[in-house]
Amino acid sequence: MIKFSIRHAKLNELLRIKYITKLAYKIPYKEDTLITKSYEPDNIKSSFSKKEVFIIVAIFNDRIVGAVRYKFFEKNSLYFYKLAVLKTHRNKGIGTSLIKQVEVIAKKKGIAKIKLDCAQEKKIPEYYKKFGYKIDKVKQHQNHHDVYMSKKIEIQ
Ligand SMILES: CC(C)(COP(=O)(O)OP(=O)(O)OC[C@H]1O[C@@H](n2cnc3c(N)ncnc32)[C@H](O)[C@@H]1OP(=O)(O)O)[C@@H](O)C(=O)NCCC(=O)NCCS
Repeated sequence: MIKFSIRHAKLNELLRIKYITKLAYKIPYKEDTLITKSYEPDNIKSSFSKKEVFIIVAIFNDRIVGAVRYKFFEKNSLYFYKLAVLKTHRNKGIGTSLIKQVEVIAKKKGIAKIKLDCAQEKKIPEYYKKFGYKIDKVKQHQNHHDVYMSKKIEIQ
């Protein structure tokens, strides 16, 4: 088991996060899965500074090797997106730890529902199902299908 740490990102780490996200999205989980581009909005710095978007990073050997973004969404929901782990560091539980950390934050904030969307052709819905996310709807989008998933958070 490799040792990595999980924490919130800092402003000066945005470039690295953008870089690893772009790279991770270029290299799919398996050869026969869809490769998608990671669309990067220009205003990430501004939305990050304004605390509209939050980012959790995974650090290994002082380098960011994984990241996930989230925002508070609609009434009492949290939406996470752009989950990315560098190909060289996959299958070591980093993606799992990033998702779990999002869930810890949601619980602390008293969020009722976590939402996400992903491409069916990436076979990624199966990955999220392992964490208890359920499919709400599937919509065709250009050459692929977007799968909308969510998980209810139990209030403690
Ligand atoms: C999806 C991703 C974040 C997983 O990161 P990771 O750190 O390798 O994940 P973990 O180590 O926590 O989990 C690995 C397990 O998930 C499985 N898994 C990974 N990607 C999967 C996928 N697309 N579909 C089904 N299972 C998947 C692995 O086979 C492994 O299974 P095992 O535990 O039974 O051996 C990583 O593959 C990635 O960055 N992919 C490219 C970007 C992407 O598709 N992001 C999601 C967009 S919504």
